Amino acid sequence: MAALIGRDLLSLADFSPTEVLELLQMASRLKSQKLRLRCHKVLGLLFSKASTRTRVSFTVAMYQLGGQVIDLNPNVTQVSRGEPVQDTARVLDRYLDILAIRTFAQQELEIFANYAKIPVINALTDLEHPCQVLADLMTVQECFGTFSGLTLTYVGDGNNVANSLVLGCALVGMNVRIATPNGFEPNAAIIETARLIAANKTEVLLTHDPEIATKGSHVIYTDVWASMGQEQEADNRMPIFQPYQVNEQLMSLAQSEAIVLHCLPAHRGEEITDEVMEGPQSRIWDQAENRMHAQKALLASILGAEEF
Ligand code: CP
Ligand code: NVA
Repeated sequence: MAALIGRDLLSLADFSPTEVLELLQMASRLKSQKLRLRCHKVLGLLFSKASTRTRVSFTVAMYQLGGQVIDLNPNVTQVSRGEPVQDTARVLDRYLDILAIRTFAQQELEIFANYAKIPVINALTDLEHPCQVLADLMTVQECFGTFSGLTLTYVGDGNNVANSLVLGCALVGMNVRIATPNGFEPNAAIIETARLIAANKTEVLLTHDPEIATKGSHVIYTDVWASMGQEQEADNRMPIFQPYQVNEQLMSLAQSEAIVLHCLPAHRGEEITDEVMEGPQSRIWDQAENRMHAQKALLASILGAEEF
């Protein structure tokens, strides 16, 4: 898709509804092998937080496109010894074709993007996880064949995944409801942006009531109650979030054909029960697989891969 060549993906709001929908279509054609793309470029992965899915799915996607990947763990670079972001960004820019960054502050990602001329992709910050949500939307589309008339309910912490989900649902025209404890709502500026995108055509609802949010919904989504960097808060958060567990009782309020998603890794018995994770409504493993297809489409679009 020519419109994405050379672009950054720092927030899902960087892309228009049409760009997201076209990207999802490309991802699904790549998955079914109706489309074959190649680009012999080099992707750098600069991850300051742990990762299984994002690291491996980006790596395999790039290999399958015929490109190469360098894993730039901060511990083996000068980043861990305090080399300024501005300097690292300008140097990596001279070697790499594209850079995916996983870090804490969204602002650090933005500095990278300002100083590096090559495209920069958000591979998770404290604020957003846009690559995850591309795969989530792809999974919803695979299951229902449409976004129109559907409602996605996210139950739990109003974190990075919740923020990107709100934007993603608004972009593709799906209703979104977010049920969090008081004080754990998604980012207010992101909600405002999502409401502007949704333009009163679809719902963007915040509530503290998981049952109201789940009633009649088509997609139930949850994530950990304490994200990376919040480990010390985990014990205090546990009783606050207990009423927000996705379990069979909560699922009984959703549509009978509803699916369950979780970005993983999961804390079974906390935000989601074993029964629901392993149950017939779970599409969690397809969702994890789709990370690779969605990111392959993303890399191919940004790098201008050619069909063969
Ligand atoms: N969902 C996700 O981003 O997983 P990883 O942290 O393993 O990359
Ligand atoms: N919200 C989680 C997502 C992990 C993929 C975190 O940031 O740790």
